Amino acid sequence: MRCLVTGGAGFIGSHTVLALLESGHDVLVIDNFSTSSPDVLKRVTELAGRIVHVAERDMRDADALRNTFARWSPDAVLHFAGLKSVSESVEDPVHYYDVNLAGTVNLLKAMDSVACHRLVFSSSATVYGKPLYLPFDEAHPTNPVTPYARSKLAVENLLHDWTVANSARAVTALRYFNPVGAHPSGRLGENPTSVPHNLMQYMSQTALGRRAFLPVLGDDYDARDGTGERDYIHVMDLAEAHLAALGDLELSVGFQIYNVGTGQGVTVPEMVTAFEAASGVTIPLQDMPRRDGDLPGFYANPDRAKNNLGWKAKRGIDAMCRDAWAWQVASPDGLVHTEDAR
Ligand code: UFG
Repeated sequence: MRCLVTGGAGFIGSHTVLALLESGHDVLVIDNFSTSSPDVLKRVTELAGRIVHVAERDMRDADALRNTFARWSPDAVLHFAGLKSVSESVEDPVHYYDVNLAGTVNLLKAMDSVACHRLVFSSSATVYGKPLYLPFDEAHPTNPVTPYARSKLAVENLLHDWTVANSARAVTALRYFNPVGAHPSGRLGENPTSVPHNLMQYMSQTALGRRAFLPVLGDDYDARDGTGERDYIHVMDLAEAHLAALGDLELSVGFQIYNVGTGQGVTVPEMVTAFEAASGVTIPLQDMPRRDGDLPGFYANPDRAKNNLGWKAKRGIDAMCRDAWAWQVASPDGLVHTEDAR
């Protein structure tokens, strides 16, 4: 299949592009490299032993998108391009809606111009908000509580409406839980942010000696050991979920939603123990107050993806920590954007 992947140089996009190439698909990546580097795609090409086509494009440039679609004429699109920092979305919601929602409007116009009808969308379980019950199934009501989360739900709603308007269209939204890990080669992974917010990044930087300790943000939740339980999912499993969704799109119609998680809630100490075993480094911990807005439990019921897509997560927290650590050691600063890399 000829695939066009938006945001294909990012964390989840790059692993998915590699999986697509390895499965024989032809891929054009469009990315503005605002949070990634073109070097990522050179590495993807090396690992796949096949060329990935690349065009530097911004989702807000409707004309450029339309021209690119006219030239590549894809059979399907995988849409990862978007912003994902909750705190930035609170500070600048207009920017978030511009990139995430208006960018998708431009994408759909470009798809319509070449009658491309199939799309896999990178959504997030954050659209559910506070759980009314656990585990979350796809029927759980959505109640997003941040601008970032609301921008993701707005895109889902748009995509739903787009499929209703034309019965030839098919969209699958994958709601990710907590993506972590890296490619097992250590060549691809998540670019660290200057101050890490998520557990895996903070743990990695602490193990590397860049942080004095890992703050345990609340140990008195009504949860198994008092800390937050999350559904961490290996990025390689996520990449495989996209392949399964893409295959299914050939047969499906309308708008489909799937949770992409393991179904297992993992606590902070459980993750720390697995990371210490994988890295051989003891991680100093410090109890700290709860983080605003954090929830005790947040994990998926992934049965729908298993039943309908034939996909389920295969990798556990040991593999997640091993691969995240290998990537962290090999590229402690991630792959930074350089002009030379173009
Ligand atoms: N945690 C710590 N110490 C840290 C970081 C996290 O104890 O330094 C705990 C959190 O309290 C939580 C668990 O580890 O219980 C996981 O935290 P993450 O930040 O890795 O994941 P969350 O599910 O809490 O949050 C993630 C993103 C958020 C985003 C949210 C919803 O990190 O930015 O998903 O999309 F808001």
